[in-house]
Amino acid sequence: MVFFKHTLSAICVFLLALVVADPQSITHNETFVPDAVLRVSTSNISQSCYPSKSTVLVNGTSPGPELRIKEGITYWIRVYNDMTHQNLTMHWHGLTQAMAPFADGTPQASQWPIPPLHFFDYEMLVPIGMAGTYFYHSHVGFQAVSATGPLIVEEDQVPCAYQYDEDKTVFLQDVFTKDDSTIEAGLVASPLSWSGETDMILVNGKGGGSANGTVCNASLSSINVQPGKTYRLRFIGATTLTFASLAFEGHDLEIIEADGHYTQPHNTSFLQLGTGQRFSALLHTKLNPEKSTYYLQLESRERPTLTRGFAVLNYGPKPSTPFTPPSQPPLTLPNTTLGFLDYELHPFSAPTDGAFPTAQEVTRRVTLTVHQRVSGQTVWIQNQYDWTDAFPAEPYLVSLYKNDSIEFPSMQRALSNNGIDPISRAFPAQIGEVLEIVIQNTGADSGGLDVHPYHAHGAHYWDLGSGNGSYDAAANEARIAASGPPVQRDTTMLYRYAMKTTNGTVMGWRAWRLRVSQPGVWMVHCHILQHMLMGMQTLWVMGNKTEVLGKVGYPDVAGYLQYGGSVYGNASRWPSVVHFTDSWVDEQ
Ligand code: C2O
Ligand code: CU
Repeated sequence: MVFFKHTLSAICVFLLALVVADPQSITHNETFVPDAVLRVSTSNISQSCYPSKSTVLVNGTSPGPELRIKEGITYWIRVYNDMTHQNLTMHWHGLTQAMAPFADGTPQASQWPIPPLHFFDYEMLVPIGMAGTYFYHSHVGFQAVSATGPLIVEEDQVPCAYQYDEDKTVFLQDVFTKDDSTIEAGLVASPLSWSGETDMILVNGKGGGSANGTVCNASLSSINVQPGKTYRLRFIGATTLTFASLAFEGHDLEIIEADGHYTQPHNTSFLQLGTGQRFSALLHTKLNPEKSTYYLQLESRERPTLTRGFAVLNYGPKPSTPFTPPSQPPLTLPNTTLGFLDYELHPFSAPTDGAFPTAQEVTRRVTLTVHQRVSGQTVWIQNQYDWTDAFPAEPYLVSLYKNDSIEFPSMQRALSNNGIDPISRAFPAQIGEVLEIVIQNTGADSGGLDVHPYHAHGAHYWDLGSGNGSYDAAANEARIAASGPPVQRDTTMLYRYAMKTTNGTVMGWRAWRLRVSQPGVWMVHCHILQHMLMGMQTLWVMGNKTEVLGKVGYPDVAGYLQYGGSVYGNASRWPSVVHFTDSWVDEQ
């Protein structure tokens, strides 16, 4: 765990808010002490059963350290790129980051990546009411497979909605035997050279079981508990590909949080966790356990081969030798539950950022029609457009400031082209709009169908559910009215309802509702890293030019506009950065 100077930074914010009226560049010299430091490097390490290979690590480990911050306080996290040949960013998955436009960690949208041997100070302020379970990961290439770690946002004052004795993180990752650069090159090759299926599902960095027909007896993580207690388990889907089904032997779960929002309690015997999703669940331990260890069993779903991993719920003393996988899986996990938890989770309390917008308030519906196109290179497209490393040439927000390669997205052009402006390749929206975003699955050129965990940066949306066929707004509204108000999420699943259909057949949808309130440039993308690299990403520009760019202008943003500009520190230079949340604090 990383230690933070809560009080100090709270006082600093308060003083600066009084002194500094407008955001301006401030040099982070030796007197500036960041709240946490993450150092990213590569090293040859071995994970699970697999031979050592070059792996991107955070503070020397994967996952990296767990960060704990409090809502309502500004934090500065210094991220060093200690790699000599790769760029880096850090994204704070699930944080809305509306107040710090260059600190969202998206290298093609919000900022130039951190060059080798440079560092960047990320500013973050989680609005009150959004305490919960998050994670951080690089947003460059395939680095997030290992360059990632838990980010827990605690309540500042208000006691937690639920009582528990202790909280524990259950952090899921994938392992591939190919290294990142081989995987990245293969995904954009023509024809496609696939990454391979995941070779193990890791829990807190460890895992063994079986994958792709091979047994792996590597040591397991142990979740240590005591009898008769209540634990809050924070499940984090930091996998790159795996849509996990998981359950504990002999213990049910009570879901209390989804993607940073408390829910009404919901009992379940198992969880499905897509990449990018988080749930907290209470686990009530037995008063008189029949044995000292119970397995947590995890399996991949919706892939051509099965990967099965394990961890251990341990009531006993710390073992002298590490736990290993069972010879037979103790559980039979269910097949994919389509629409898992849809219409079943409801908010714990009224949201702090406005009520669920009614159907009558919806001003516009944008349908993202997703499709896999094969013509030489295999790409994933949304409304005919992909978004890969080949576009844009510089980070989108940077281009808008510089007014060079990309013009500000045209609402008019977008309205006559299924929501996307074909020239700037962005989906524009206006502040005050209530959007319905419908993600519609279609048969690939080959007729195949796939599942996709869709994730939005910049804001959480009201999740309207999912279903087969195409979205029927009236029918779905009736279903919501009957089941109760939906929860806010930032990552939800687009399912498949068959393995195969015909090219272009519309089959399966997911719908979101969103009140557009924060100007900014935000990604909406599938969270399967392989699909992202194959084009499954969109960019949204919320607000007009003045709203997006007007808050902070030249000369203060100049350092953000060049690769390796003055906001990036290195061995011989302190960075000069804008303190964006100062004006944010003033306005609140
Ligand atoms: Cu965790 Cu853009 O995502
Ligand atoms: Cu996908």
